[in-house]
Amino acid sequence: MINDIKKISVSEDKIQSILTRLGNQITKDYKDKEPLFIGLLKGCNPFMVDLMKHINLYCTLDYLDVSSYAGTKSTGNVRINHDLNTNVEGKDIIVIDDILDTGRTLLAVVSLLKARGAKSVKLCVLLDKPEGRVAAIEADYVGDLVPNEFVVGYGLDYNEKYRNLPYIGVLKEEVYSK
Ligand code: IMP
Ligand code: MG
Repeated sequence: MINDIKKISVSEDKIQSILTRLGNQITKDYKDKEPLFIGLLKGCNPFMVDLMKHINLYCTLDYLDVSSYAGTKSTGNVRINHDLNTNVEGKDIIVIDDILDTGRTLLAVVSLLKARGAKSVKLCVLLDKPEGRVAAIEADYVGDLVPNEFVVGYGLDYNEKYRNLPYIGVLKEEVYSK
């Protein structure tokens, strides 16, 4: 698998420093609160699991699997493939995803959670690709910025593969023509 990688965009060391920084920041910002972490499947893992080890708070977690309707800018157009088990009413929520690209998915998720009565909703993403943005949404916690280039690893996939790569990298061109 690793022979398919052309270059490393975010190294394992860099990921560790991101986890420490974001974990400390969230611990500080949510002092005296009990946040509910909602991971978007499947890209939130391993980021969410590793990040939580750096958070010194009482907190809970749940998972949501959604697809945003392509080709629309309206909010709330989201198909739920796997719903939460938790009632979000009155909860302080931190949504975790692998990457913020067009922003359509996260915008739809935020409006869904607010419609269900969440007290607050913040977004935490490992990567942000600002050039890809279509929806008016920004993340509150960002691990690293990446250029408009397709990346895989540490949760990010190409055809469901490479999620288990311990770092973020760019695939060799020949992989796409396989
Ligand atoms: P969007 O912000 O609604 O466009 O959705 C972001 C989703 O698109 C992410 O959760 C990823 O599943 C996928 N995605 C966007 N850019 C990349 C990339 O560079 N590599 C792998 N998946 C990506
Ligand atoms: Mg995804």
